[in-house]
Amino acid sequence: MVMSDYISLSEASELLGKSKETLRRWDNEGKLNAVREPMSNYRMYKKSEINTLFSNFIDDTIQETVSNYVNPENNYTVLELFAGAGGLAIGMEKAGLKCVALNEIDKWACETLRTNRPNWNVLEGDIKQFSFSEYHNKVDVVTGGFPCQAFSYAGKKLGLADARGTLFYEFARAVKEVNPPICIGENVRGLLNHDNGKTLQGMISILDEIGYNVVPVQVLKAINFNVPQKRERLILVGIRKNIDLKYEYPKPYKKIYNLKDALMKGDLFDCDVPNSGGSKYPKSKVDVLKLVPQKGYWRDLPIEIQKEFMGGSFYLGGGKTGIARRIGWDEPCLTLTCSPAQKQTERCHPEETRPFTVREYARIQTFPDEWEFSGSIAQQYKQIGNAVPVNLGKEVGYSIIQFLNKYYSKLEAKQI
Ligand SMILES: C[S@@+](CC[C@H](N)C(=O)[O-])C[C@H]1O[C@@H](n2cnc3c(N)ncnc32)[C@H](O)[C@@H]1O
Repeated sequence: MVMSDYISLSEASELLGKSKETLRRWDNEGKLNAVREPMSNYRMYKKSEINTLFSNFIDDTIQETVSNYVNPENNYTVLELFAGAGGLAIGMEKAGLKCVALNEIDKWACETLRTNRPNWNVLEGDIKQFSFSEYHNKVDVVTGGFPCQAFSYAGKKLGLADARGTLFYEFARAVKEVNPPICIGENVRGLLNHDNGKTLQGMISILDEIGYNVVPVQVLKAINFNVPQKRERLILVGIRKNIDLKYEYPKPYKKIYNLKDALMKGDLFDCDVPNSGGSKYPKSKVDVLKLVPQKGYWRDLPIEIQKEFMGGSFYLGGGKTGIARRIGWDEPCLTLTCSPAQKQTERCHPEETRPFTVREYARIQTFPDEWEFSGSIAQQYKQIGNAVPVNLGKEVGYSIIQFLNKYYSKLEAKQI
C-alpha cells in the first residue's frame, strides 16, 4: 500500500461533502469501500477513486427539479439589510421582487450598489441609526445576512431586549417595525453550532417573541442552485404568526455546474469571463503551488515541502483539503473567502499559478459581468466573497414569491 495514493476519512468526507458517519455507513454497506491502514486500523480511501466520485458526484436523494420559477401575482417588495455588494438583492430582483431600500455600513459596498442601481434607495450607515417604521405594513419581506455574534445568555428564554447590542437585535427590531408577512435571515452553517446551538435558539425565541414562527432551519448548498461553488448558506425563515400557510424551501436541482461553466461560455454565461485585475501570490507561494496538480492540495507536495508549507497544522490531523488547493475545471470551486490571499485557503486557478481575478471571483458567485464593484481590488474581493451567490438568492426569491402568492390569494378570498 503506497500511502500517498490514499487519503483519510476526514479528507474523503470534506472532498465529497458527506459526513464521516455517512462514509462509514457506505463502507459497511459496500457502497464505497475503504481499506484499513495497517498500523492504526483507520479507514483510508484510494485517492483516485474519491477524485472520480468527487467530479461525478451527484446526490442521488435529489429528484429532478425542472424549475422553481414562479410568476409574482402582485408587485412584491423587499427591505434588504446588511446588503453588502448586493448578491442577495440582485437574486431577489431577478426572481421578481422590488428592493424598496437596502442598508449597509461599508462605504465601498454602498458605492457598488449605487453605481449599478442608481434608483435603489441605499441607506448608508450603521443599522442602529435607522428606523424602519416608515415601511410599517408596506413591505412584503425583510431579508438580511446579519453577522453572527454570541448573546450573553442568562439561562432563561432569550427576549428581544436581552439581545440589545447585537446585529441580530437590529434585524429583529427592523422586522418588528416593518411587520412583513415573512422575514428571511441568512448566515453561515457555523451558526448551527455557534455557542453550542444557543445562539440560534436565542434567535428563534426572539423571533417568536416579536410574533414570528420560525420554519425548521435548513442549510442550502449553493451547488444545488445553479452555482458553480461548494458554498453553503443557513436560511432562517420567520412567518408572521397570524398567517397559517406553509413556506416551502426552493427545491434543489440535480445539475451541478463546475469551474468551466463559471469561466467559459456555456449554460451559465454566454461568453468567456472578461479580463480584470486580481491579486497575485508571493513568489514563495507560487513555487509551492506550481507543484500541485488540478484538484490537488497540500498532500500532493513532496513531504518536506508539505511540512514547511503547513507549519504546525501538518501534525494536527483532519482533512484540510482546502489548503494549497488547485481547483479543477470539472469540479465546482471551493467556497470563496473574502480575500484570495488569505492563508491556508488557497484556491488556485486550474492552469495558471495565481488566484482567481476579480471577475472570475464574481462569476463563481454568479454575479452578472455587468455588475461593477467599487473600491480597491481588496475591497472588491471582500464584497464578492461576503455575498450570497446571486443564483442562490434568486431561488430563495422564488420561494418567497410562491409564499406571498398563496398569502395574498388567501387574503383576497377572505375579503370576498
Ligand atoms: C455577509 S455580508 C452580507 C452580504 C449580502 N447579503 C450579499 O449577498 O452580498 C454582511 C454585511 O453586513 C454589513 N454590516 C456589518 N455591520 C453592519 C452594521 N452595523 N450596519 C449595517 N451593515 C453592517 C457588512 O459590511 C457586510 O457587508
